[in-house]
Amino acid sequence: MPDRYLELVNSGVGATVAGRLGLPRPAVLRRYSPGDPLLAGELLCGELKGGLDGLVELLAAAGVQTAATDEDGRKWAGLLFDATAARGPEDLAELRAFCNGALRRLRPSGRVVLIGRAPDGADPAVDAARQALDGIVRSLAKELRAGATANLIQLVGEASAADAEGALRFFLSARSAYVDGQVLAVSPGAGSPPADWTKPLAGKVALVTGAARGIGAAIASVLARDGARVVVADLPAAGEGLARVANKIGGSALQLDIAADGAPDTITSYFEQRHGGLDIVVHNAGITRDKLLANMKPEHWDSVIAVNLAAQLRINAALLATGCLHDGGRVVCLASTSGIAGNRGQTNYAASKAGVIGMVRSYALRFADRQAAINAVAPGFIDTDMTRAMPLLTREVARRLSSLQQAGQPVDVAEAVAFLSQPGAGSVNGQVLRVCGQNLVGA
Ligand code: NAI
Repeated sequence: MPDRYLELVNSGVGATVAGRLGLPRPAVLRRYSPGDPLLAGELLCGELKGGLDGLVELLAAAGVQTAATDEDGRKWAGLLFDATAARGPEDLAELRAFCNGALRRLRPSGRVVLIGRAPDGADPAVDAARQALDGIVRSLAKELRAGATANLIQLVGEASAADAEGALRFFLSARSAYVDGQVLAVSPGAGSPPADWTKPLAGKVALVTGAARGIGAAIASVLARDGARVVVADLPAAGEGLARVANKIGGSALQLDIAADGAPDTITSYFEQRHGGLDIVVHNAGITRDKLLANMKPEHWDSVIAVNLAAQLRINAALLATGCLHDGGRVVCLASTSGIAGNRGQTNYAASKAGVIGMVRSYALRFADRQAAINAVAPGFIDTDMTRAMPLLTREVARRLSSLQQAGQPVDVAEAVAFLSQPGAGSVNGQVLRVCGQNLVGA
């Protein structure tokens, strides 16, 4: 659905009027197209002395042009600061000095990425400095304009530059257009990186549920673009849309109610027989039945929990018990910012989505034992049929509430799912990645 306001304020007259009236002026975000370079210009890199080994070499191998010194008049596509060696709050002044002038010359849709270490309880001054990065990135993301974003990669324990490569590529690239103000923890043990970063999912078999339309259809299309063989699943009633999506991406369609008793068996036998198992599962199917808790009927409550949460739990249990999910597999579960921040009229939905986050965290160690990973993606306000049903004014206000002052597109969620599905993303496990343009609602 076109965002007419965004189009207007990016036209000549509209931009002038919006500027004079002080109205929000959301930028047209740069999004990824195959063949695009990782970063559209130079990356200014800075570090505290004693930072990560091999970071600049890794960027050079990824085709990123890096520079170590800022100069007046030089424009930057991104700024990267390695603060992993922070020993105390006084070190943070170096980060301020690094960003100061360069930030004013950040190109539209520019990227600021900080890398730090996760607090570990060993030294309060060190942990204070490490946690301070969280505050910096969340505030900076709110200051940036013209579609620029700021995110923090937090290395856990002995995690290295190589462990962070997948996350770094994602945050620097246009694939993370609507991911802003986020902190992503990366642990040691990324697994082997993809042989070809332009087709990172080559040779993988993927299942995407609820893929007849909206976010699920976009996920299926991005996974196929990245090389996966995709099976799309949805309710029989959505069969026509499902067949359309399957044809468009050269995949197969599986008509299935994920909440039906036999769904886990149907999935495991389908993939065992046709593909000898599967590598990627995206639990995207979801429903809303909004009511105030005081007015909530059992059917509103039960159906939302059954589809959004219980079905995922049962399918995951079957995938692990049968070994249908290959070692090194990836499971990505759709949560929601409603499950983090809460939302009026959505106790059932928020329970299901917060439950998904709990499930992902609980499963992480068991998945790690198989070199596999399970993560949640929590979209904020995304333009789909679900949000199209909102009254016009509520929708327009909701769209402007994020730091990027616009709704996300289904493809933005799909890019985050595709990143977490990559072979090299095993270092991200049990995490929640918000795709919300740093929506002001909640955390
Ligand atoms: P949508 O309503 O456009 O699509 C959901 C799809 O799931 C539909 O094709 C539907 O037929 C399918 N589905 C529903 N019940 C099913 C079942 N029992 N078995 C199989 N398929 C079933 O929704 P949208 O907006 O694309 O959302 C996708 C996911 O993203 C959902 O989990 C939703 O909760 C989540 N989400 C969406 C947000 C948004 O702003 N649109 C925000 C936050 C989360």
